[in-house]
Amino acid sequence: NELRIFCPATIANVSCGFDVLGAALDSVGDEMVVRKVPEKGIKITKLVGQDLPMETNQNVAGVAGLALLAESGSNEGFEIEIYKKIKAGSGIGSSAASSTGAVWAINDLLGRPFSTLELVKFAMEGERLASGVAHADNVAPALFGGFTLVRSYEPLDVIPIHSPSELYATVIHPQIEVRTSDSRKILKTHINLADGIKQWGNLGGLVAGLYTEDYDLIGRSLVDHIVEPIRSILIPGFDKIKSVSKEAGALGSGISGSGPSIFAFSKGEATAQKVGEAMKQVYQKIGIDYDVHVSKIN
Ligand code: HSE
Repeated sequence: NELRIFCPATIANVSCGFDVLGAALDSVGDEMVVRKVPEKGIKITKLVGQDLPMETNQNVAGVAGLALLAESGSNEGFEIEIYKKIKAGSGIGSSAASSTGAVWAINDLLGRPFSTLELVKFAMEGERLASGVAHADNVAPALFGGFTLVRSYEPLDVIPIHSPSELYATVIHPQIEVRTSDSRKILKTHINLADGIKQWGNLGGLVAGLYTEDYDLIGRSLVDHIVEPIRSILIPGFDKIKSVSKEAGALGSGISGSGPSIFAFSKGEATAQKVGEAMKQVYQKIGIDYDVHVSKIN
């Protein structure tokens, strides 16, 4: 009647796949304990590590869980404890980790009435609360694992994508908070055809590279002509981090989700660690505090 689960951090967008592509990190994430209780509904009884609302209706885990319970017609009740390791506003899917953890655990404790795709839909309600938009590019990989592509939102169609065996991510988080809602407001709502052509060329290239484990193709495809030029202005040292990552051997890099975290992909863990060292030095030089993580995509 009780589950303790790992809720992975995620890299959304992955450069060329704004709002559709995402990847789950194997070794970075929160923990959550979910237990059945006699009282109907959902209560957040503990929230450790971050200053976030605990009222069920204001908490992404609460809202996502309630969406599931409403659809199930269940009269059961659940208590949730959240142990946050992912910082809110860091760009590695903090809200998605909590929303997906809640729906995954509650579904399990109810005897799994819903499919993983249905869980994505419930977890998206948490994202709607957090950012104003029910995007699925963090919650889908958090639930399915590995890389996922949201082929369509209406109807929701999520495609799990093969993850190459030697692909590692390095993520550096400069200690500033960028709210997803704010970093969405600065985006243009129209793109021009020439940029679109480059973008979907890269997105197709990236997906092909992931399936064929063609690391050079993955690197060539990690380019974003639409969102990165606008959002990177909010991120200190962005261009420098990109160039030192490349020099240290990374395949490519970009903004993780809505930032300010920056991710780089590398072939092999040793290179990913070296990339992390090179990234750190940039922030040490300009005096910005940071966290850095290396993880397999899984
Ligand atoms: N696709 C979303 C965005 C991800 O970039 O706004 C937010 O984590």
